[in-house]
Amino acid sequence: MLKQLTLSAAMVLALVASPALAAGKAGKVKDIEFSFEGPFGTYDQMQLQRGLQVYTEVCSACHGLRYVPIRTLADEGGPHLPEDQVRAYAEFYEVWDPALLDGDGDFRPAKPTDNFPQSALSNAPDLSLMAKARAGFHGPYGLGINQFFRGMGGAEYIYSLLTGYTGEEKEEAGAILYENTAFPGGWISMAPPLYGDDVVYADGHDSSLSAVSKDVSAFLMWTAEPKMMARKQAGFTAVLMLTILTVLLYLTNKRIWAPVKNRVKEGSTPAE
Ligand code: HEC
Repeated sequence: MLKQLTLSAAMVLALVASPALAAGKAGKVKDIEFSFEGPFGTYDQMQLQRGLQVYTEVCSACHGLRYVPIRTLADEGGPHLPEDQVRAYAEFYEVWDPALLDGDGDFRPAKPTDNFPQSALSNAPDLSLMAKARAGFHGPYGLGINQFFRGMGGAEYIYSLLTGYTGEEKEEAGAILYENTAFPGGWISMAPPLYGDDVVYADGHDSSLSAVSKDVSAFLMWTAEPKMMARKQAGFTAVLMLTILTVLLYLTNKRIWAPVKNRVKEGSTPAE
């Protein structure tokens, strides 16, 4: 029986593992400490603001965030920018408004109610949900074990990608590819976007390659999961309520059966 069970478990494992094996060599993802890890982790508001700056000054040249409404930059639990700053920030972008010029459409400065624009470069993927899309595929055979036990997810992947360039490049079918230790397959068509000191932080925070990559990865984690803090809080409240309920049910159960138990102890049979 045990042997059969082990055999079928091994077969299931082999089935789950094989697509990942066939997909070629997986990239190396480093484990980084982020403030939002663990059941009580929260976003670091200042870090999200720095990450927004890196996104705006570097990544937005190619990548969009089309699923993220600009107004959410003011959200508590997010970058939490003051309303007037969000309005000023929105005007930095131009959006296409089909209702302008009597229905002919025209560009106008974005408002906080608009979303971020989509990618400016057609082959650069949208980054809104990238941190979630790339989460959970790490660990042996892509089982997601590292994410489960060590909290490694998409933010770590993005950090590893940004810091994983080896400096090697090659030309293939007219395109230049850059060697990257985190990218599955090892060669990516995105040129290294960060080198360190790419941005100047207003608060004089460290702007080394590693620090800037960490900030923008945290920011992209927030764009992919803006309600994480509310979700964790709701989860915690639910667990607390269930614990109290369990204790109450246990005590109620004891009390309801107490007379019967006592009768059994005294050696008498229940009355018919
Ligand atoms: C010059 C344009 C350009 C800039 C600037 C740029 N990227 Fe990219 N990025 C690309 C392209 C093109 C791809 C697609 C690469 C591929 O699939 O080979 C890409 C892919 C990615 C991916 C997806 C990798 C995957 O697993 O598919 C991530 C994440 C990413 N970029 C993050 C960033 C971040 C963060 C920044 C800013 C620090 C940035 N990029 C700046 C062009 C750019």
